[in-house]
Amino acid sequence: MSPSAQSTLSAPVPAHAPEPVTAGGPSAAELLDFALRTAADPEVVSSLPLDPEGRTWIRLDGPSGSEAWLIGWPPGTGTGWHDHAESRGAFATARGRLTERSLAVRLPAEGWQSLELAPGLDRSRSLAAGAGRAFGEHHVHEVLNESTAEHAVSVHAYYPPLPLIRRYSRSGPVLNLEHVERPADWQ
Ligand SMILES: [Fe+2]
Repeated sequence: MSPSAQSTLSAPVPAHAPEPVTAGGPSAAELLDFALRTAADPEVVSSLPLDPEGRTWIRLDGPSGSEAWLIGWPPGTGTGWHDHAESRGAFATARGRLTERSLAVRLPAEGWQSLELAPGLDRSRSLAAGAGRAFGEHHVHEVLNESTAEHAVSVHAYYPPLPLIRRYSRSGPVLNLEHVERPADWQ
């Protein structure tokens, strides 16, 4: 990817964008249903080892060939800004509370290194135990446990299984693409 001049991105995602069609796979709503049901299963949730020093995770069998994870979040930990390329997904909080900060805009998939976000595109939501959210392809977000005391646990599912994750740094309105992770990097 060649560095390009910083461009400004301002078009919000339509409020009711049609769900992308990937034949044979679960919809984002079905992934959310799985995440919520699994997050409500104490046997699964309690199988995750928790580490006060860092995030922990276990791979789960997601529905219909999806990729799923059970993740533990000590207080103060987070993912940093990233997207999931062409995968759609969902996650649900099983214990504690998670914050999701996201962008209400679809980023161009290729050909840029730095984007200035127009005002008004930032979104934030707080997901207590039992709450979840689904998202479409190219969703950009960061997930954090902002608690100072309570460990959080959550269930995540993606379809198609993640081909890559793009990681970004954020400086005010400017989003910089930092690197691209492939499955070999996190398995
Ligand atoms: Fe994510």
